[in-house]
Amino acid sequence: MEVVICTSAEEIGRHVADVYEEALRRPDPVIGLATGSSPLLAYQELIRRHREEGLSFAGATAFLLDEYVGLPAAHPESYAAVIRRELVDHVDLAPARVHSPDGTATDLPAECARYEALIARAGGIDVQLLGIGTDGHVGFNEPMSSLSSRTRPKTLTEQTRQDNARFFGSVDDVPRHVLTQGLGTIGEARHLVLVATGEGKAEAVAAAVEGPLSARCPASVLQWHPHATVFVDEAAASHLDFADYYRHALAHKPKWQGF
Ligand code: F6R
Repeated sequence: MEVVICTSAEEIGRHVADVYEEALRRPDPVIGLATGSSPLLAYQELIRRHREEGLSFAGATAFLLDEYVGLPAAHPESYAAVIRRELVDHVDLAPARVHSPDGTATDLPAECARYEALIARAGGIDVQLLGIGTDGHVGFNEPMSSLSSRTRPKTLTEQTRQDNARFFGSVDDVPRHVLTQGLGTIGEARHLVLVATGEGKAEAVAAAVEGPLSARCPASVLQWHPHATVFVDEAAASHLDFADYYRHALAHKPKWQGF
């Protein structure tokens, strides 16, 4: 795992955009997208590169991590709508090639199996963007999720519902249930890119990066991955014991080595 401590959220956005640009320049790219606040600056930078530098998403296929159960794609806070609003509407990514689990399906386990098969048929995900919950979730794999779990329905913790209330009118409007790629599903993406900013994420980041590999902190599954990059700002890095080492390694990073 490579931990990159950045001076600003904008710098993180540029690094993530670099990683996605490299993936997008390869044939038939399959990109994994996250929602929530953490990816927004990266999406804005990708949109800028599309408009000003001709970066194209034309050949790409995209998969979302998760979706709320019971919210139709037309609901403004469904993750299908959020990703359209924040990224897809502004670039040349074909909407038909942007996939998310359908949280309104009548048979949710069957919908999850369909989603897994769709990812497999696309040849797997080249690069998967991840935020991290204050309780250490990635996707919506809440604490004690199986480290080998597949896409399935999950129940949100009350902490996550409180955290996400800012996107809804009130916490009462935040759905209790979600469909999420499992930790096993996420772990099969060829490159995992986790982004976290702010003091509120510091404890979760420290548990994920330097704590034990444990279902108690689902994001610690990144420690098991052969290619995981964690971009954090100073505040999110503030509980890391090895912060000086990460800075040292970055300062001496060989020119030929990308993220
Ligand atoms: C969103 C997702 C979640 C968020 C996490 C952090 O698709 O899977 O794991 O990444 O809840 O959310 P923000 O970035 O809003 O703090």
